[in-house]
Amino acid sequence: MKKALLILFIFTFCNQTIVAQKETTVVSIKNTANAPTINKNIYGHFAEHLGRSIYGGFFVGDTSKIPNTNGVRNDIVAALKELKIPNLRWPGGCFADTYHWKDGIGPKENRPTIVNQWWGGTTEDNSFGTHDFLNLCELLGAEPYLSGNVGSGTVQELADWVQYANFGGKSPMSDLRIKNGRTEPWKVKFWGIGNEAWGCGGNMTADYYVGEYRKYATFMSDWENTGGLTRIASGSNSADYNWTETLMKNIPVNMLGGVGVHHYAVIDWAKKGDGVDYTENQYFQTMKSALKMEELVTKHSAIMDKYDADKKVAMIVDEWGAWYEVEKGTNPGFLYQQNTMRDAVLAGATLNIFNNHADRVRMANLAQCVNVLQAVILTDKAKMILTPTYHIMKMYRVHQDAQLIPLSFNSPSYTYNNETLPALSASASKDKNGLIHISLVNVDAKKDQKIEINLKELGIKNVTGSILTSPKIQDYNSFDNPTKIQPTVLKGFKIKTNTLELIIPPFSVITLEGK
Ligand code: AHR
Repeated sequence: MKKALLILFIFTFCNQTIVAQKETTVVSIKNTANAPTINKNIYGHFAEHLGRSIYGGFFVGDTSKIPNTNGVRNDIVAALKELKIPNLRWPGGCFADTYHWKDGIGPKENRPTIVNQWWGGTTEDNSFGTHDFLNLCELLGAEPYLSGNVGSGTVQELADWVQYANFGGKSPMSDLRIKNGRTEPWKVKFWGIGNEAWGCGGNMTADYYVGEYRKYATFMSDWENTGGLTRIASGSNSADYNWTETLMKNIPVNMLGGVGVHHYAVIDWAKKGDGVDYTENQYFQTMKSALKMEELVTKHSAIMDKYDADKKVAMIVDEWGAWYEVEKGTNPGFLYQQNTMRDAVLAGATLNIFNNHADRVRMANLAQCVNVLQAVILTDKAKMILTPTYHIMKMYRVHQDAQLIPLSFNSPSYTYNNETLPALSASASKDKNGLIHISLVNVDAKKDQKIEINLKELGIKNVTGSILTSPKIQDYNSFDNPTKIQPTVLKGFKIKTNTLELIIPPFSVITLEGK
């Protein structure tokens, strides 16, 4: 074989031109002594009153023919339990700052309607309210994360919500809760104080929001004195570092359980591109925006470190994911989009970033769970499909509450039109049973990646793995072909004298298990 062919071996495989890399990336282990635990809450989800997320998604009502428990679809509950969903954020998003929780309690026929001003101007009948949501979380075994209304609400209203949900003794709000059929408090830990206060949450400046935050946080009592009430500040819009700086500087650490960050992977807000029909250029630009998360988390962390060296305050990336144009023919206000292998690669790489920053990132919420943006579940009447992103969340659930194993490697580059991105993304952890899991993503749309991992350092003798891949990057699961993309057993890797040799196909995600 000619020398040039030894360097680059090009072959065609299932519609894709795949370029075999001669270079091998050696992945080694950094010092694990003080490695943090990957908080399971990094694998959290988000359900807003938006489009078909709640109504026609989670909630079909108890008279529906679709099997349900108190109106919530059983198939969705089962699918999310499979993911070990650790927490669910509700009721928004932008909707949260228009939501008056007392509209959503008591007999359903007496509940007032409101108009959803942010999402399609639909009439909201408040049939899915506090009890429905918190009981759903119990069914899922997930922690609820309630987003309080600061934009159009009052301090009293949010303080009352906390008392309604959490107070075990006799009080006006616990009496009301009991009257509405729930004796035991739910003991909700996670409370957001507004959402996107810099935008739909009130167009506030950072300084103004600090004052609002301090006032609201003061009156939200930890009724059970468990120390478990985590007050979460509405965080920055992507790279607005001044927002984080202002919050950290002016809110005492003991009033601040978490600081949010929102970042969506968007090609261009004016021209977001189609969710399915996209070019390699659009794929590259989406990934460029998604991988910016590494820089965002690093820089926001550095600011937080200045004011909170002990890392008491969590960074909470409570909205992340891909945002495209809505699927053709759907309501522009409903943010319904399909989900392809691009989304799987994006999810895998983003979760690797969160895992690797587990010392500070202790919660994240993919936007959104059902039928909205980068959903893990899509429904069409009685039908339900699991998206490629769902399968990534399932493959990665092994990292929940496991100890991070920091990795070190020099990533090869993915080059497109003279721009480059790191082609390889990885994270690893050791779970409570001593099992080691390594998740690897090949971001490159064309080239495969040759990897070597030294197993001796990890004490691994046996390895198994699963892979999510597909012939075309634009492939997706449809209602007609719901299982087109599914994880399969990884084959073809070799173990030679304590070294695992593996080739990762383009736009693929792998999770290895070693023991
Ligand atoms: O997730 C959709 C919207 O994106 C949320 O309502 C808002 O917080 C963000 O701008």
